[in-house]
This record gives sequence, C-alpha cells and structure tokens, in this order.
Amino acid sequence: MRQRSFFTAAVFAAIMVPTALTAQEPDTLAPGGLIPATTTMETAWDIPRNPLTDTTLGSSPLAAEIRRGFEIFIDPAGKAPRYTGNALTCGNCHLNAGQRERGLPLVAAATAFPEYNKRQGRILSLEDRIVGCFLRSLNATGTRRRGGAQLPTPASSEVLALSAYITWLSAGYPLGRDVEWRGRNVIPRGKLLPVASLDAGTGKALYLDRCANCHGEDGQGVAIGDKKAGPLWGPRSWNDGAGAARVYTLAGMIRHDMPYIDPGSLSDEEAQQISFFINTMPRPVFPYKAKDFATEAIPADAIYYTSHRRK
Ligand code: HEC
Ligand code: HEC
Repeated sequence: MRQRSFFTAAVFAAIMVPTALTAQEPDTLAPGGLIPATTTMETAWDIPRNPLTDTTLGSSPLAAEIRRGFEIFIDPAGKAPRYTGNALTCGNCHLNAGQRERGLPLVAAATAFPEYNKRQGRILSLEDRIVGCFLRSLNATGTRRRGGAQLPTPASSEVLALSAYITWLSAGYPLGRDVEWRGRNVIPRGKLLPVASLDAGTGKALYLDRCANCHGEDGQGVAIGDKKAGPLWGPRSWNDGAGAARVYTLAGMIRHDMPYIDPGSLSDEEAQQISFFINTMPRPVFPYKAKDFATEAIPADAIYYTSHRRK
C-alpha cells in the first residue's frame, strides 16, 4: 500500500522481534505502571492494565462498563459511532490506551477532577472533560451532516463507560495530589518560540524527513501491522477547537512521543516547527469556538482563535 518499503522491511522487523522478548516484565515499567517514554514501537501494542484480560476485575455491571470504556478508547468509530466524527481513536494520542509515560497518560487522571478549565472558564468533571474530547479531538460537533456525529453529554453511556475505565486506571491514587507523570508532555516555558517566528516550510521539511514514513506525505496515516497512525490534518482529523490544535500543546506531544521509532530525538524547536506546520493545514472547524476563552485570555498558541476575538 502506501507504506515505504524501507520501513516495512527493515524497521518493521526490528519492531516486531523485541515485542516477544520484552513482553511486560513489571520491572520494565515506569512509575504509575506506565510504558517507559524511551521505548520505541516494540512496546506500542502493550497494555500494562488491560480490563479485557485482568482476571481480578470480576463480572459486575461496573466491570462490564470498564471493559466497554476500554473498547471505546481504542475504537471509538466502532464502539461509539454516534459521537465519533473523524478517524481518530483516544489511543492515537493517549498512547498504550493511556498508559504510556509522556504519551498523555491517564493513570490517576480521575483524581484531578473536578478541575478548573481555562478554555471553558468553569469547573469540569471527568465526564465533562471526556465530552470535550469527543467534541474536539473526535470532532463530534452535532452538525448532523451526512456522517456528522451527535453531541455527547456527561450522561451519555459511552462517556460514562470511558469515565469508568479512566477511574479504574486511577484507583489507589489520592485525590487532589498531582502525580509526577501528569502534564509532562510540554515544551519548557523558556524554550517556547513566538508563534510568529515559526515557519510552516521549515516544519514541512522536517515532517517529510521525520514523520511521513508512518503518517504519509498526505498526513492521513499509514498502517503499521494492525496499528494505524491517525490523520494529522484534513476532514478526518481533530478540529480546530481541540487541544492538539494549539501549537505548543501539539509540540509537547510530538517532542516526547514522536517519531515513534525514536521518541525524544527532536529538539524543542523542531517539535514546534512541525506542530506549526501541522496546524496550518486544513482541518474541521469547531463551531462553538466563540464560547471558548470567554473569561480567560486566548493563549498565544491558540492560532485558530485569534480572529473571533479581533472582531
Ligand atoms: C515509526 C512510525 C512513526 C513515525 C516515524 C511517527 N509516528 Fe506519529 N504515530 C505513529 C503511530 C503508530 C501513532 C498512533 C499510536 C497508537 O495509536 O498507538 C502515531 C500518532 C501520532 C499522533 C497522534 C495523533 C494521530 O493523528 O495519530 C501525532 C500528533 C503524531 N503521531 C505526530 C508525529 C510526528 C509529528 C512525527 C514526526 C516527528 C511522527 N508522528 C512520526 C507512528 C509514527
Ligand atoms: C488528537 C489527540 C487527542 C485525542 C484523539 C484525544 N485526546 Fe484526550 N487529550 C489530548 C490532549 C493534548 C490533552 C491535554 C490537555 C489539553 O491541552 O487539551 C488531553 C487530555 C485528556 C484528558 C485530561 C487528562 C488530564 O490529566 O487532565 C482526558 C481525561 C482525555 N484527554 C480523555 C480522552 C478520551 C476519552 C479521548 C477519546 C474520546 C481522547 N482524550 C482523545 C489529546 C487527545
């Protein structure tokens, strides 16, 4: 298919062999039971805590929802189609089903909610936050066009199932005390470059060199075994109201997670250049942006927001 031959042959062999060798010895996990940030694709298929195989979980109604939440997390188009407006999964961004160090991990995340959210200017519950992920990252904007997804609410059963999975991942961690692995997908403040100084051409050249073998020159993702990187732009990608549509937020993901074959190899500047390029490409419009940042200032890297505030 669109896979590059050098990748499928040589690199894929290197990826697959260690999978068998490293299969989940607990002492190879990072704090929080997370897949270490430094491993490459050999651990891309590992799920340290998998509710489908965890025999301690039992068969209660809650256990069933935890399992369903996990299944939605890795396959929203298949398991939550009415709220999925693009080709992304939660696990495309929250790597290893939310269990990878510096892969936007969600272990213990439930303990941080309710939390004040600047974008929405109010306190959010975990379920509110998950609704935001559907609306923005999964582009469920309720437009009801052909193929358009409906608007989820905090009481939607799919949202509650995801909440059950994330809460299960958070059991045993105290409320209100941030864990060390939360919020680490960031570019250090002193390394942030002014958005106006970033150059899409520079980012594109880096993208073609470092990313296109897995994500495609068209940004739509290439299959790697049964895994497929999600679309980085275009109608099947996140919309312009998503966290990933912010230049520094996406740069923080890229800086620590990508290229998947060599995570951490990009400089802070390279990650920002690539992020800027990706976020200058076309993507779906979030129709409710005017309601965001109503009480807080629009952050400098929220490039899709500046025009409505200038009106
Ligand atoms: C070796 C293959 C590989 C390379 C090279 C690679 N990626 Fe990825 N990337 C993936 C895979 C696979 C996923 C999905 C992970 C999953 O679902 O477990 C992914 C996910 C992502 C995501 C999450 C959103 C989405 O659309 O899936 C972003 C953003 C991303 N990659 C950006 C980049 C950037 C930028 C580069 C270049 C610096 C890069 N990647 C290089 C394999 C790769
Ligand atoms: C395009 C990438 C992307 C996708 C897809 C995505 N997220 Fe996220 N998610 C993020 C980013 C980035 C953040 C960090 C906060 C921010 O700045 O928006 C985040 C934050 C979160 C948080 C808050 C974590 C915390 O510690 O505060 C939760 C919970 C969450 N996502 C759940 C989900 C669920 C459930 C799905 C699928 C329905 C999903 N996400 C899909 C990128 C993504």
